[in-house]
Amino acid sequence: MATQNTAYPITEHNYDVVVVGAGGAGLRATFGMAEKGLKTACLTKVFPTRSHTVAAQGGISAALGNMGDDDWRYHFYDTIKGSDWLGDQDAIAYMCEQAIPAIIELEHYGVPFSRTAEGKIYQRAFGGMTTEYGKGQAFRTCAAADRTGHAILHTLYQQSLKHRAEFFVEYFALDLVMDPTSGECLGVLAWNLDDGTLHLFRGHQTVLATGGYGRAYFSCTSAHTCTGDGNGMVMRAGLPLQDMEFVQFHPTGIYGAGCLITEGARGEGGYLTNGDGERFMERYAPNAKDLASRDVVSRSMTMEIRAGRGVGKKKDHIFLHLEHLGAEVIHQRLPGIAETARIFSGVDVLKEPIPVLPTVHYNMGGIPTNVHCEVVFPTNENPNNVVPGLMAIGEAACVSVHGANRLGSNSLLDLVVFGRAASIQAAKLVQPGTPHKKLPGDVLTPLIDRFDRLRNAAGAIPTAELRAEMQGIMQSDAAVFRTAEILTEGCQKISAMSAKFSDVLVRDRSLIWNSDLVETLELDNLRTQAVATMYTAENRTESRGAQAREDFPNRDDVNWMKHSLVLVDQSGKVQLGERPVTLTTEGFDVDPVPPKARTY
Ligand code: FUM
Repeated sequence: MATQNTAYPITEHNYDVVVVGAGGAGLRATFGMAEKGLKTACLTKVFPTRSHTVAAQGGISAALGNMGDDDWRYHFYDTIKGSDWLGDQDAIAYMCEQAIPAIIELEHYGVPFSRTAEGKIYQRAFGGMTTEYGKGQAFRTCAAADRTGHAILHTLYQQSLKHRAEFFVEYFALDLVMDPTSGECLGVLAWNLDDGTLHLFRGHQTVLATGGYGRAYFSCTSAHTCTGDGNGMVMRAGLPLQDMEFVQFHPTGIYGAGCLITEGARGEGGYLTNGDGERFMERYAPNAKDLASRDVVSRSMTMEIRAGRGVGKKKDHIFLHLEHLGAEVIHQRLPGIAETARIFSGVDVLKEPIPVLPTVHYNMGGIPTNVHCEVVFPTNENPNNVVPGLMAIGEAACVSVHGANRLGSNSLLDLVVFGRAASIQAAKLVQPGTPHKKLPGDVLTPLIDRFDRLRNAAGAIPTAELRAEMQGIMQSDAAVFRTAEILTEGCQKISAMSAKFSDVLVRDRSLIWNSDLVETLELDNLRTQAVATMYTAENRTESRGAQAREDFPNRDDVNWMKHSLVLVDQSGKVQLGERPVTLTTEGFDVDPVPPKARTY
């Protein structure tokens, strides 16, 4: 028991490793570490099987070649092209090569994948996934119908329990505990929502698997819990984030509701039409058509709507057709989205098209790490400077395997491959049972003070009002298409919104299941990430992947083939920096892919 503050007694827990987050990445790391004999704690603000990975539909990529010729080097090439040459090629080689053993392992752990007639894992087509370096369409996305994330998450949770990992469920991680002298991460401070107590979790490695921050936007496919809590904690610890301007819009969110309709729907043969009934993707991507990469499809849809060729009364959305696929394909391969379409748009997919619109879906940016998942704090002398004791994985991290645009089904893969990599690295770095060094001085006091300040915040603006303002600004000013004018105004607006946080109002002062305070803590995390996104988007004067600048329509490799770094402090001050992209593949049996024009 460590008690440093009389108002908030703190219970101390000592582990070899502490994982924050129980989505696909967090659970893969948790059970991998426990399996390797490390005493492992996993903290999560929701019950593990309710983590957002549960909503992942279409599948997980790996060049298994079950449905035709494939090779992990084709997957490597596609991922680099998809990233618009901003992905780190060593990390991409690692992910694509390791995809194959990582998926076979998942199969052996019990993931109930759909099957081919011969009993192999079923694989479907997905956007940007090709064979022979762009020549053919790959069937690479391993699927459990359209509920792949659900199947994987449950299996990983079962494996974690089997290996006796310890779970702290409905614990909200407040802040990283950092050694101010060495810069080492010593653990994390968390709030038990169920009984109101505070807890210090000591770990020789703290692994952030806290997901993305989709909820900075008004319309997104992400769960309400996707508030990028790890990213917020990292910036409060004085560490920068990377590539935050790159926000992915999924082409097919349900119009109005934002719920995801999987890209697997187009992988199974679905297609998009405009208000003229035209299959317009043939004009924008003559080869890949509806299966071009997501940034390309989302931009094309937006251009059709802007040109007055949208569908519906306001001509402000697009139709996705699945009617021609027939009942058997829908029931076997896409049962979940048939239900989603019925509930959220009242559409019977066998009879009518689904109204869809590009919707915020994924953050390519996040906490910069090396290929071993160790967090890096780039300095002028060393762009790969490691922060001792801290790792990040999954959507929270920026390894960077997705660069400026992620290919569909590479996210579940990222979770599994790098969750696994984190466990391999932790087992190398941590000797089980090593005692923890004494906590330096008053290191917890400022963290508790912040918690207490927000709990007692007596300003004039309710959290929900401020959050709605932030989401509106992000939706309108950090959108699919961007210009200097809009972004400059966006920077002013988002900074002003963020500054208003000092006037936030929390009405509930209790400590037990205080959702008002949870949402305020989440908003504190979101606002700095929203600022980071707007300023980096304004700063990058080129178009690359998901960053489409109308005033700078071309990719500029001379000036901009580099990662951006950003640190937003609590006062809203923004510091920008940069870090080189890795264009080498040493140690992998594949040559780097030199930059070239990106067409589909
Ligand atoms: O469309 C989908 O099923 C989403 C997949 C992904 O984002 O990887």
